Amino acid sequence: MRIVVLGSAAGGGFPQWNCRCPVCALAWDRDPRVKPRTQSSIAIETGDDRWTLFNASPDLRSQILATPQIQPRGLRDSPIRSVVLTNGDVDHVDGLITLRERSPLTIYATSEISAIIDANPVYGVLAKDVVARRTVDLGATFQIDDTTIEFFGVPGKVPLYMETESLKIGDVGGDTVGVDVRKGGSRLVYIPGCAVVNDDVRARVEGADALLFDGTVFEDDEMQRAGVGVKTGRRMGHVPLSGAGGSLEEFKGVNVGRKIYIHINNTNPILIEGSPQRQAVEAAGWEVSEDGLEVALSDAAGTRHAHGDRGSTAA
Ligand code: MLT
Ligand code: MN
Ligand code: ZN
Repeated sequence: MRIVVLGSAAGGGFPQWNCRCPVCALAWDRDPRVKPRTQSSIAIETGDDRWTLFNASPDLRSQILATPQIQPRGLRDSPIRSVVLTNGDVDHVDGLITLRERSPLTIYATSEISAIIDANPVYGVLAKDVVARRTVDLGATFQIDDTTIEFFGVPGKVPLYMETESLKIGDVGGDTVGVDVRKGGSRLVYIPGCAVVNDDVRARVEGADALLFDGTVFEDDEMQRAGVGVKTGRRMGHVPLSGAGGSLEEFKGVNVGRKIYIHINNTNPILIEGSPQRQAVEAAGWEVSEDGLEVALSDAAGTRHAHGDRGSTAA
């Protein structure tokens, strides 16, 4: 299985257009310890030179410009044939608009996320005679080319723009999902948003050859501390990395080949190479993704059993 990280930042990207928090300031000042990052999306080669986007970011056009694997092959012939959505937030759906221009595509989403797309007339620009919309139930596997995919619910919430007074965070359903991806004996679990790491989440990732997981904030209250907002990570539906109940602690001991943080907010100090937080994450066996990171899982990877075995990381 070939995976390319198109965008490793959370909503807003890094640096964010209106922000000079200490981490964004380094990026604006071109400090070599930080690399700018675009908004959350990965691409997987689901078939023979056929690629599927997992989330479609507002930065999709620049991501295609930076990624030969998903550039057009011939006259109006894109290898991007499908899009899989994990929630309805702007950073994950806005790029669908970039995919207008009458190329054949299929969009896969839960009924909750499909309803958002269906209710928004702007998405009508994706003409229904060429762009199919498929609604998939949680737990039902579906096939894209040679790849078998399953949505599973994770603790989450509705998209930011649909929050009301009665907002509930941490419900498991179709609003926020992870994706289990299997191809040629290898398995990836992709969870860019998750409010709580519970036993179900741990059981789901167990034995995967690679895990791409929500790396939004390091400290739950880091946005408050930086003076850029009042919300905690948990309030935004994103479990922090550090502290009690944080993802570093909760995934300790799970048997996963490669553990990689993705969907990283611009305030998160793991974006700074050599920072104490970055060192702590790396010492715990995690990687910090950056745009353009390629992850190749060999066909034999799915046979790995040994605890702590890294599986194949050949590029
Ligand atoms: C999030 O992951 O919390 C969202 O991307 C928020 C947003 O819409 O920017
Ligand atoms: Mn997001
Ligand atoms: Zn910032």
